[in-house]
Amino acid sequence: MTVIGTGYLGAVHAACMAEIGHDVLGVDVDTAKIEALASGRPPFYEPGLPELLATSSSLRFTTSLEEAAAFGDVHFICVGTPQLRGSHAADLSYIDAVVEGLRPYLREDALVVGKSTVPVGTAARLAARLDPIPVAWNPEFLREGTAVQDTLQPDRIVVGATSARAVELLREVYAPMLSAGVPFLETDLATAELVKVAANSFLATKISYINAMAEVCEATGADVVQLAGAIGLDERIGPRFLSAGLGFGGGCLPKDIRAFMARGEELGVGRSLAFLREVDEINMRRRAKAVDVARELAGGSFLGRRVAVLGAAFKPDSDDIRDSPALNVAAAIHLQGAHVTVHDEEAVENARAAFPQLDYALEPAKACEGADVVLHLTEWKRYRELDPAVLAPLTRTPRLLDGRNTLDHPRWRAAGWAVRALGRP
Ligand code: UDX
Repeated sequence: MTVIGTGYLGAVHAACMAEIGHDVLGVDVDTAKIEALASGRPPFYEPGLPELLATSSSLRFTTSLEEAAAFGDVHFICVGTPQLRGSHAADLSYIDAVVEGLRPYLREDALVVGKSTVPVGTAARLAARLDPIPVAWNPEFLREGTAVQDTLQPDRIVVGATSARAVELLREVYAPMLSAGVPFLETDLATAELVKVAANSFLATKISYINAMAEVCEATGADVVQLAGAIGLDERIGPRFLSAGLGFGGGCLPKDIRAFMARGEELGVGRSLAFLREVDEINMRRRAKAVDVARELAGGSFLGRRVAVLGAAFKPDSDDIRDSPALNVAAAIHLQGAHVTVHDEEAVENARAAFPQLDYALEPAKACEGADVVLHLTEWKRYRELDPAVLAPLTRTPRLLDGRNTLDHPRWRAAGWAVRALGRP
């Protein structure tokens, strides 16, 4: 099989397919990425991926779609579908380029399988373009940070297809997962495309729901962490994805809900998805709130203040900074006149490239030196293990905003820190 597009999704998919016994050819237009992968170095941080790349003998890489077409029985398309500039819609140019690039060379017995997140209707359009080569849609639900495990032990496999042969081929591809009991759901193309955006919209809504409750807690002196714990015990609600704080970012949830709204408008069902605009608004308000609380902690103004930011990645166990709430807050505070020093476990290089105006530290303690305020914005495990008693004397004033509600506040207060958090008294 081939895996076309070797970003966060494709590189992991390629390595995992090789791991379960397939001969895999990874394809990308980015020569540097292909060279890195071919020499066993992932071009991004993902736990478990270096080990898979190092041990796999059935995984090769190329930049040639012609070679890919000759090699593959099954072609997985994993290229990005980012937000279009100046619009909420998805940019399908990468996916279209792959289809046009493969088309002249595809073997008659080939199957093309889309994994990228796309607006509903895309698969049918591509199927018409590739006819008589069959097209299936097989959305991917992996989370960065646990991508290898999510791919090898998925909750479910969803396959949208128009031919029985496509379904059979994909059952073969995923045979080890099927024998381990993973549910295999067959749908039409449109349903498979929608499952992905519906799942991500639900997750985004769950996060914004608890963050809306955080806003109510802030107005009433209630505690959103206790509230989330209490409602999460209801099995119908469940405790996961109820962590209130700075909200969601990354390369998926924000752009997926926007693309879904844009597609809904085109389809005449804009009203059905109008709530996603509120989900987006609540999410963005949390970033503004964090800036406001940090300014209060800094004494009412950031001018001339030193602010330490712990966390740059959009979430822990990733070096991905796409739409990172942490960096959004750091950059806003910098623009208001503060001197901002950022630490992250893995994302410093990516952050420095995107936000060269911020300062960076290689150790959390270095970032905190002389700080008027410390902001905890990405919940790396290491930050929970920091000793607040050691950090306090390094700062100018020990003041903390916990933007992720994961630090042990009584312990920080006992070490002399003034602590604020989002949605908590
Ligand atoms: C998401 C989906 O979870 C995954 O199924 C899909 O395939 C791709 O998009 P990912 O972007 O890797 O995965 O991150 P996820 O773990 O969903 O977190 C997204 C954002 O929500 C992060 O910024 C995270 O910090 C935030 N989040 C998550 C919260 O603010 N609160 C929560 O309770 C959970």
